[in-house]
Amino acid sequence: MENIFFDISRLKAIEKNSIVGKTVRIRKPALVSIGRNSIIDDFAYISCQLEMGDFSHIGAGCHMIGGPQAKVSIGNFVNIAPSANIVAGQNDYRTGGLVGPTIPEGHGGHADVREVEIGNHVLLGCNVVVLPGVRLPEGVSVGAFSLLKSNVEYKQWTLYAGVPAREIGKRDGSLMKAQEEKLMKAVQEGLL
Ligand SMILES: CC(C)(COP(=O)(O)OP(=O)(O)OC[C@H]1O[C@@H](n2cnc3c(N)ncnc32)[C@H](O)[C@@H]1OP(=O)(O)O)[C@@H](O)C(=O)NCCC(=O)NCCS
Repeated sequence: MENIFFDISRLKAIEKNSIVGKTVRIRKPALVSIGRNSIIDDFAYISCQLEMGDFSHIGAGCHMIGGPQAKVSIGNFVNIAPSANIVAGQNDYRTGGLVGPTIPEGHGGHADVREVEIGNHVLLGCNVVVLPGVRLPEGVSVGAFSLLKSNVEYKQWTLYAGVPAREIGKRDGSLMKAQEEKLMKAVQEGLL
């Protein structure tokens, strides 16, 4: 099935069994690599670098923005629910000069570009917003409509929610880890 908005053969990498929806738009395919058994659902829009691991899922209508200098890294077994917005680069909201895709090279000011790192087994609910520089360690889960800021040290296997997000509980990852082990064994044995 052909992709409408970009040439899928120009991706940096896309491994075995991965699916990119027909209406996904990736501005710079050469800056995007996708691991195995991963899915990017329809109407997602990606304007930055993306490194995506295995068995991970970007839901419908998610946006990953910040331009070609910005980067989002996503680990394995990550689920990002529909309409999440991940911002890896943004205008300077207080003192910056001219910034944005309309400004010709050499005429612009400073942009706030910081990598967003999303660890293994992270789960983001619908409409979550992630700001530049956020690092989410293994197993973080985040409630719908939450705002994640970079000045917080998020803890692994912890549930956050709210604007800005605050810790509302712990997450038990033991079943997930046991199932991961079994699944990866099947992968190594060539069964998947
Ligand atoms: C985060 C979530 C899982 C919590 O559910 P829960 O364990 O049943 O927790 P509760 O509803 O008892 O809420 C606990 C507290 O967190 C608050 N809270 C829960 N979800 C919240 C959210 N998304 N934003 C802000 N606060 C939230 C509640 O108001 C409550 O606060 P209180 O203790 O001050 O009253 C759920 O609310 C949620 O957002 N789910 C995501 C749904 C989604 O996007 N799914 C996509 C497909 S995976």
